[in-house]
Amino acid sequence: MSTNYWRYLGLERLLSLQEGTGHPSPDELHFIIVHQTFELWFKLVLSQLRLARDHLASPKVPEEKIPFVVHHLGRVNEILKLGVEQFRVMETLPPQDFLAFRDSLFPASGFQSFQLREIEILLGLEEKARIHYGGMDPLEHIRKFGQENPEDAWVWERVLATRNETSLRTALHAWLTRTPIHGSHNGDPEDQDKVTAFLQDYYSRSEAHHRGSIDRLCAGLGEATRPAVTARVEAALEGLKLFLFPEDPALRRTHAGLLFIESYRELPLLAWPRLLLDTIVELEEQLVLFRHRHARMVERTIGRRVGTGGSSGVDYLDQTTGYRLFPELWQVRSALLPRELLPPVRQEEKYGFAG
Ligand code: HEM
Repeated sequence: MSTNYWRYLGLERLLSLQEGTGHPSPDELHFIIVHQTFELWFKLVLSQLRLARDHLASPKVPEEKIPFVVHHLGRVNEILKLGVEQFRVMETLPPQDFLAFRDSLFPASGFQSFQLREIEILLGLEEKARIHYGGMDPLEHIRKFGQENPEDAWVWERVLATRNETSLRTALHAWLTRTPIHGSHNGDPEDQDKVTAFLQDYYSRSEAHHRGSIDRLCAGLGEATRPAVTARVEAALEGLKLFLFPEDPALRRTHAGLLFIESYRELPLLAWPRLLLDTIVELEEQLVLFRHRHARMVERTIGRRVGTGGSSGVDYLDQTTGYRLFPELWQVRSALLPRELLPPVRQEEKYGFAG
């Protein structure tokens, strides 16, 4: 039998998966389909993240592979943007029409979206950073369901398997660590000295730049603000020191690589690496917007009610907008110097196009 549109897409099965709780509310179909479409997008996001991670996780990433990583992550970004918009469809459900069938959903909740948990894990969310609600770990919540009902055990097994994978963040760090700095490669005999010299030079220039800004700021804001402004600048410099000189030498080189790419973005050889970093920053930004948009939609629909999963609802969801899975990509923005104050690039010819 040759294929056709409905067979190829499995439409008979797909369109029969909306039974729900059997509640007579005409809005339940709407509620289920909106959730299902999100979960389908999550499935695609997971596949794209794995493809991107696989390219980036190889011990040596050829230059021509970076566009593939950017391509897959760019697709994730478009899906997330669409997801943000998609909450508008959910919002056509008026609060009282949702209340008509909400109780029949207990204790089902978006909390149990194991695919979102896998996305977080695959991106690199550290377990110690995960927000708990009322002492409950959201992953524990999923594990408990699997323990109570053997039919649900596969969900926890999926999450566990994802936990054993290399995260995008780990792959990104390993790749950044190998960035040549002023022509010096990780592992070269004098690499450590050269990297330290780069970071120290960067810090001295930043120190002069930041301290110089105190006078300019006070001239505009008034002399009375000097103590507060000075304290803020000193705190910023302390933060900069922590970023540039972490104790772990591998992490120091990772940060140095990141700072080098962001500082010398115009060098031809860094064109794709910087696009990759921009794409990941965009991904994180879209994920924060996604969480924020979901929280606003929830607030509009159920106000400050307790969630069907038992969390504080909107308060919990708002806390999750604070997640930063790639904190260093944000920290480096505070560290950057204006172009005219940058140390000149050494061995610049190594960063040109070949041929
Ligand atoms: C009327 C519509 C919706 C309401 C009232 C609602 C409400 C909530 C609430 C209160 C929570 C917090 C957990 C809890 O205690 O239950 C939550 C979590 C969640 N919801 Fe929704 N939601 C709605 C629609 C959606 C849709 C359309 C999606 C599709 C993506 C979704 C995905 C999630 C996810 C993934 C979580 C877990 C978030 C996290 O822990 O980071 N929700 N939702």
